[in-house]
Amino acid sequence: MSDAPRKSLLELANADTAQVLRRLFRDHGRKHLHSYVVAMLLMSVGAGATAWSAYLLKPVLNGLIEGEHFKDMRYMAWLVFGLFAARGLVTYLAAIVLSRAGNAIIAAAQGRLFEHLLRQDLRFFADRHSSDFITRIVYAPNGVRDTIQALITSLGRDVLTLLGLVAVMFVQDARLALIAVAGVPVAAVILSRTVGRMRKFMRRSYVGSAQIMETMQETVHGARIVKSFNLEDIMRARMAVAIREVERASNRVQAGLAISNPVADTLAGLAIGLVIFYGSWRVSVAEADAGSFFSFVAAMLMAYDPAKRLARLKLDIQNGVTSARLMYEVLETPAAETRTPGLPGLKVAQGRIVLENIRFRYRPDEMVLDGLDLVIEPSQTTALVGPSGGGKSTVIALIQRFYAPESGRISIDGQDIAGLDLASLRDSIAFVSQDVYLFRGTIRENIALGKLGATQDEIVAAAQKAHAHDFIMGFSSGYDTQVGEQGAQLSGGQKQRISIARAILKDAPILLLDEPTAALDSESEREVQRALDDLRIGRTTLVVAHRLQTIINADRIHVVANGKAAESGAHDELIRRGGAYRSFFASQFGDSLEVVRPASSEAR
Ligand SMILES: Nc1ncnc2c1ncn2[C@@H]1O[C@H](COP(=O)(O)OP(=O)(O)OP(=O)(O)O)[C@@H](O)[C@H]1O
Ligand SMILES: [Mg+2]
Repeated sequence: MSDAPRKSLLELANADTAQVLRRLFRDHGRKHLHSYVVAMLLMSVGAGATAWSAYLLKPVLNGLIEGEHFKDMRYMAWLVFGLFAARGLVTYLAAIVLSRAGNAIIAAAQGRLFEHLLRQDLRFFADRHSSDFITRIVYAPNGVRDTIQALITSLGRDVLTLLGLVAVMFVQDARLALIAVAGVPVAAVILSRTVGRMRKFMRRSYVGSAQIMETMQETVHGARIVKSFNLEDIMRARMAVAIREVERASNRVQAGLAISNPVADTLAGLAIGLVIFYGSWRVSVAEADAGSFFSFVAAMLMAYDPAKRLARLKLDIQNGVTSARLMYEVLETPAAETRTPGLPGLKVAQGRIVLENIRFRYRPDEMVLDGLDLVIEPSQTTALVGPSGGGKSTVIALIQRFYAPESGRISIDGQDIAGLDLASLRDSIAFVSQDVYLFRGTIRENIALGKLGATQDEIVAAAQKAHAHDFIMGFSSGYDTQVGEQGAQLSGGQKQRISIARAILKDAPILLLDEPTAALDSESEREVQRALDDLRIGRTTLVVAHRLQTIINADRIHVVANGKAAESGAHDELIRRGGAYRSFFASQFGDSLEVVRPASSEAR
């Protein structure tokens, strides 16, 4: 992870727990309030049944001692049975109601997180690793559900049960009850101490999980490089560090959670011992009522579990609050691509693109474009050439408004793109990126992404124009061939032609091509070239050109260097001028222009 998200991790780690809980309730609790009320009612019935069954021990025991009739006792047996069965039933129903509400919360939270990601700009993604998002979208909503669930269950079941049982205890013997509950505040103080220490480990365990995911992804995506460079040891070591981090942090978290056991058990043992000691003295020496005493002890023993759960509630909630924080960190990053409704849509007449005095940088100390002026004429092919890292791909990104320029103006047919509806702008542009991206699925699905609801005929026609149809039909599954993750099952040139077919299918008036720098074999290159020639016809075409043929065939060439369009003109004119283009061209393709000319005329 980069520095930026890590900083905000720490900021939020210190946000008030109560604040996070209030926010959780506002965002998720309120909507499911009716479910929680129903669950609470069900659980209060259960709590009542529990307390009642403890209370019943008094008449049962006193009845036994006083020798009451078996017939009357039989009624008691049925009542206890009924109480337990009823408690089982309402607990079951409450669990169902709660888990439904809980899973609805997970679904909503995941939807919201993803929706938020879709609204982020490229800057946001460039700063972060995808494993970070995956960890957040998978783990964080679970934590949110667990927190809310823990709260409701404790309030509904444990607090009410405890209240009922403590009431029974006080009814049976108030003095004994005071002795028994004296240990509770002591336990609470001890346990709340551990909460603070555990926060750190809960978060560490999350960061470690994200690192495991990251190493896993990079090992898979970079499998070729990992093998070729023998990086197995490095990856193994990196993974081991992450795994150990998670293991250690989890051990600490678990130990922290488990601390509630010895604390509660010791205190409970002490209280029970005292009660038995004092109670039995009262019954045997002071001749107190034995039924009350036994009912009291039963209530106290039954109160033990809910009391213990309540004691560690703060720990459980802490775990969930950590997850909730992770979620809110994403949700609180302002969405950079907020789509203001009601903005005018782009209307392309000819498709003349004008960039005026554009200044742009990614990093504060590195100006990428510094006063760039550029006119891209309609129905022509304009090529951008220049040194690697000169800002050519950046120009393509700015025209699509992936980023906003710091100053300057970009307009299409006189309409400033900054004030246009974003979707309409991108609808008018077909883009073939420098690094081809294919989605999971078949070749057909990947081409079809160019146009919503494209028919099979349109897909095939696009593939034919992209010179992809023949190789696709060469596969035994044809258009249904799986491309593999990120197109791993296809060659570089095949991937490119599929991405060109996708752009052809889109049939947009403006075409932005960022030529891959990777060299293809001459046959593939020729195929891709023909595909692009077909695509360009009748459109405004801006191509970042790396290939000789593309450059010479362009109607107009701009050299982008040092943040500006240094020189522009047609190939012949620029060569004659002997300036920046000529030296760039010579450095790329050698100085013997005679070799070049026949090739260019052949391609035309
Ligand atoms: N997301 C980013 N964050 C920070 N810097 C970036 C980012 N993308 C590009 N840059 C930097 O901006 C400069 C211009 O990059 P750009 O991709 O536009 O170059 P290019 O002219 O397309 O190069 P090439 O011919 O190698 O594709 C480079 O110095 C690059 O390091
Ligand atoms: Mg580039």
